[in-house]
Amino acid sequence: LEVKTARFLMSNSSVHKCPEANMPEFAFIGRSNVGKSSLINMITNHKKLAKTSGRPGKTQLINHFVINDNWYLVDLPGYGYAKVSKDQKNKFQAYIADYIINRANLYCLFVLIDSRHEPQKIDVEFIEWLGEKQIPFALIFTKADKLGKNQLQSNVAHYRKQLLKSWEELPPILLSSSTSGLGKEEILGFIAETAPE
Ligand code: GTP
Ligand code: MG
Repeated sequence: LEVKTARFLMSNSSVHKCPEANMPEFAFIGRSNVGKSSLINMITNHKKLAKTSGRPGKTQLINHFVINDNWYLVDLPGYGYAKVSKDQKNKFQAYIADYIINRANLYCLFVLIDSRHEPQKIDVEFIEWLGEKQIPFALIFTKADKLGKNQLQSNVAHYRKQLLKSWEELPPILLSSSTSGLGKEEILGFIAETAPE
């Protein structure tokens, strides 16, 4: 799969205002600062398609991008961080849950996990919730460039083990680095397989 064109379409805060659900859609979610927006830029060969920042909480809305006039990529806000209130901190906002549950053309939700860390409660709970809601998802371990090969493999193996405590079968698992380009072919290949043209 080759990305020929990528353009920003719209931002909004409600699934009801999203573009018509007439093409396959793939969305990116995960903790604030995990690298969602950077990964979208990396796989689409753009430096500034999605807005990125060193400070968590940059993406605040549901952002639709149109790829090859054929499918949507969606950049979502992160969870696990909020300037506003403690109460909100460990919850992600209702409109995101609403989007995930009700977006009819969502072929797969990519859940991004920082490959450097131990499994975090908020991610594990989020993944459980996806299971309950029967949302199709895949995991992407990000910032792979920040670890040595062995450490990376052992962290991912540890994560698999953790998930197998509550899941009979593991979801697809991919690795990425927005700085080295690792994962680009795999992620685009996965998209092409999941939504054949
Ligand atoms: P929010 O929108 O705030 O939820 O964050 P996000 O998940 O979209 O993260 P974003 O792409 O804005 O990246 C956050 C920070 O991590 C930025 O400083 C990026 O440059 C950095 N970053 C993202 N991906 C990678 C990566 O693969 N490797 C390295 N080394 N840094 C990365
Ligand atoms: Mg972002």
